Amino acid sequence: MSDIITITLNPCIDKSTSVSGIQPDKKLRCTPPVFDPGGGGINVSRAIKNLGGEALAIYPSGGYSGVFLNQLLARESIPVLNIQTKQHTRENMIAVDTMCNQQYRFGMPGPLMEVEEWQRCLEAVEHNDSEYIVASGSLPPGVPVDFYAKLALIAKRDKRKLIVDTSGEALRHAVKEGVYLIKPNLGELSSLVGENELETNEIEPIAKDLILNGGSEIVVVSLGAQGAMLITKDVTYKVDAPIVKRKTTVGAGDSMVAGIVFSITQGENLRHVLRYGVACGTAATLNAGTSLCSRQDVERLYKQIQNEK
Ligand SMILES: Nc1ncnc2c1ncn2[C@@H]1O[C@H](COP(=O)(O)OP(=O)(O)OP(=O)(O)O)[C@@H](O)[C@H]1O
Ligand SMILES: [Mg+2]
Repeated sequence: MSDIITITLNPCIDKSTSVSGIQPDKKLRCTPPVFDPGGGGINVSRAIKNLGGEALAIYPSGGYSGVFLNQLLARESIPVLNIQTKQHTRENMIAVDTMCNQQYRFGMPGPLMEVEEWQRCLEAVEHNDSEYIVASGSLPPGVPVDFYAKLALIAKRDKRKLIVDTSGEALRHAVKEGVYLIKPNLGELSSLVGENELETNEIEPIAKDLILNGGSEIVVVSLGAQGAMLITKDVTYKVDAPIVKRKTTVGAGDSMVAGIVFSITQGENLRHVLRYGVACGTAATLNAGTSLCSRQDVERLYKQIQNEK
């Protein structure tokens, strides 16, 4: 039994390709597509695997694309528990225009989930006894906006630790119920507290407020190329991200969450946890396409962060 499970309500298949010169009306000759399993929690499970750990991925899947998603995860030896749905799993498309090196990301809406289907996802988490539950990503149509709050209630009752990485109303409801850890970026934190765009010096007091009101025990605010902050009721840490030649930031947030949770389960202190999370986030930016962090890059970047202190 793994100590970490992830839950992804809105999984997808990411189909990546490239083409030289995207133009309207013309037939665009693309390179052979690469298929990757995707969605917040699924990516966290995949990144944890890269780091040498294991996290059961719980997700709904349906139709021919659902079968394909299950196969892609089996190919990566990710332990899964999938809940069969009537509608088919969504497929996203990522196209790089090699002429200008610009990336176009087409995200499809998730299929409508039936009440009985999301309830089965909730029960799958409830019937598992992992200490850590990572809930990540958006909620597809049909799923109540307080789904993560329902998870929070289960986690509190069973003395488990819920980590939530989402945005908007879904995040607001989760925080209202109270969770173990949230990882908003600056934009997500700003809208959580009803602000347009917070300044960096406003993060700490706002996070402390959230913590004192029982919203979350730990708040990690990611700041892209600026690194991240970790705040609890007792401490505030800030870590700069190493300067790197980034290829894409796709998967940076998910890799960071994977690093944070993985190092917490290894019994590391929170200063190390933040450094490791930043190393994982930055490592993800070194890889093209939808690739997540590799262990080798993480270890190198972690040492670099440590030496800078
Ligand atoms: N340009 C960059 N250079 C170096 N590190 C980066 C860069 N962008 C992101 N990172 C790393 O990844 C972490 C998470 O990135 P970010 O704050 O962009 O998360 P996010 O907005 O949740 O991302 P996502 O779009 O994947 O959800 C950062 O804290 C940092 O460590
Ligand atoms: Mg994110």
